[in-house]
Amino acid sequence: MIVEIKSLKTKRLTVFASGSGTNFQALHRASLKKDFPGVVTALICNRQKAGAVDYARDHDIPVYLLAPEDYSVEADYTRRLEEILQNEKPDLILLAGYLKKIPASIVGSYRNRIINIHPSLLPKYGGQGWYGMRVHRAVIEQGDTVSGSTIHYVTEEYDRGPVIARSRVTVRPDDTPESLAEKIKVKEHILFPETVKKLLQKQ
Ligand code: GRF
Repeated sequence: MIVEIKSLKTKRLTVFASGSGTNFQALHRASLKKDFPGVVTALICNRQKAGAVDYARDHDIPVYLLAPEDYSVEADYTRRLEEILQNEKPDLILLAGYLKKIPASIVGSYRNRIINIHPSLLPKYGGQGWYGMRVHRAVIEQGDTVSGSTIHYVTEEYDRGPVIARSRVTVRPDDTPESLAEKIKVKEHILFPETVKKLLQKQ
């Protein structure tokens, strides 16, 4: 008797990242586990020198580089992204530190299938211009005692989509923006893959 074993890994994930890519790496590592229902099929990046690109190349993950100098016209950038996504057919699009806005037409076509991770407890320190160390510096300047990370659906407005999951960290009096960023990333590397797994299981 031939028993057909259907692979669990039927879902396709496209990750967007612009920076060091530690969240992208955490997602990819999680996706290699047997019980994870998806595969990272591509990385989209707008910076040639991003750590995320090095990691993807070392792990044979296809990379689409959209250098800003080649896509200074917004419509060309949008068209190229649409083309890539039509080709990739992602079940979920994961924004892991992608520092460019996702065009509204793409948000519309992939409604509730684009999720972003943001390094604060949204709605605090969210919106246009709030990213990276700016967020952590402000948290410390304001004397907040708790910060964290938020995963949310992407809508046309920066960092305002429905919240899916959060993790919290305590801000200690001796924390610096750098130490806070590190603590938050440790949590993000658990929260992001876990959240993606749950969403894929529900699809
Ligand atoms: C993360 O802290 C994430 O919350 C934010 O950008 C950062 C990306 O870091 N959106 P990394 O490139 O994954 O290390």
